[in-house]
Amino acid sequence: MNAKSTKQEDVATTATLLGKKAGNIPTPPAITEHGNAKVVAIFNQKGGVGKTTTTINLGASLAEMGRRVLLVDFDPQGGLSLGLGVNAHSLPLEQTVYYALMTPTANVDSIVLKSAVPGLDFLPANRDLGTAETTLGAEIGGQQYLKRALGSLRDYYDVILIDCQPTMGQLTINALVAADEVIVPLQCEYFALHGFIELKGNLDKVKNFLNPNLKLIGILATMYDKKTSHNRQVLERILEQFPQDVFETIIAKTIRFPETTVVGEPITTYATSSGGAASYRRLARELIARGGAR
Ligand SMILES: Nc1ncnc2c1ncn2[C@@H]1O[C@H](COP(=O)(O)OP(=O)(O)OP(=O)(O)O)[C@@H](O)[C@H]1O
Ligand SMILES: [Mg+2]
Repeated sequence: MNAKSTKQEDVATTATLLGKKAGNIPTPPAITEHGNAKVVAIFNQKGGVGKTTTTINLGASLAEMGRRVLLVDFDPQGGLSLGLGVNAHSLPLEQTVYYALMTPTANVDSIVLKSAVPGLDFLPANRDLGTAETTLGAEIGGQQYLKRALGSLRDYYDVILIDCQPTMGQLTINALVAADEVIVPLQCEYFALHGFIELKGNLDKVKNFLNPNLKLIGILATMYDKKTSHNRQVLERILEQFPQDVFETIIAKTIRFPETTVVGEPITTYATSSGGAASYRRLARELIARGGAR
C-alpha cells in the first residue's frame, strides 16, 4: 500500500474511542508562499511522554506536505538530534543551538543542519545547552533569547517546532516565550491529569507575564494502549474536562517508535506505511486544520 494512502480509519482517534466515527481530515493545499513561520513548543514537564518523538514525526509529516520545517533541539540531552542521526555531543559549541541562543551576532543559518528528509531541518543541541540555564536567569531579557535567535529563521520557514526538556526552567521559559502555540504530549497514566493541571497553571503564568499570545493548541494522547483500561479511563477524564483541548488523533503505543531512534530517522521514512506514520500524518493535518500551522 502506498504510504500516503494509508486509510485514515486505521488511525486511533478520540472519536472512535467514544464510539463515534472519526472525520476525515483532507490534505491541506500546498503552500505557494513560504515564510512567516508559526512557532510551536512541544512541552510537558513530565519526562518520557513522547515530546521528542512527536517533534520529529510531526515535523517530518509537515515536511512531506511541502512545508519548510525547522526543528529546534532544546534539550541538553540532544535526543532530537540523535533521532535524526546526529550525535550532537561531538559537535563544537559554535555549531549548536547554544551558540545561536547566547550570541546576538551568530549566523544562525550556518548552524542549521539538514535531515535526510527534504524540507526538514534542525538546530542541534548537546549538553553545553544545560549551562545556559543560569546565565539566562541572570541576564536582563534572558527570557527572550530564543525568540531573538529564531527571528530571521521565521522569514524562511513555515513552521518551527521546539522540542523542550522535561523541566520548567529558563530554557523552557525561553521556548514558551518564542512560541505561538504549545502542544502537550500526554501519556494517559494515573497522574497525567494532575500533571496537566499543574502544567496549565505554568502556561497561564507565561501567558500573563511574558507572552500574551501563547495558545494551547492541543493535548496529544501518546503511547496509547487500547488494551489497557486505565489508559482509556484517563483519556476519558481528560476529554470530559478539556473537550476542546484534545487532538482527535491519538498516537498508539508501538515498538516502531523506539526502533526509529536506533536508525536515526522519522517513522514516516523508516516505516512509511505503518499506523504510527499514518497517525503523525493525521496529526499534521489536524494541526493545520486547527490553525496551528500553515
Ligand atoms: N507511541 C509510542 N509507542 C511506543 N514507544 C514510544 C512512543 N512514543 C515514544 N516512544 C518511546 O518512548 C521513549 C520516550 O519518548 P520520547 O523520547 O519521545 O519522550 P520525551 O518526552 O521526549 O522524553 P524526555 O522527557 O526524556 O525528553 C522513547 O524510547 C521513545 O522511542
Ligand atoms: Mg525528549
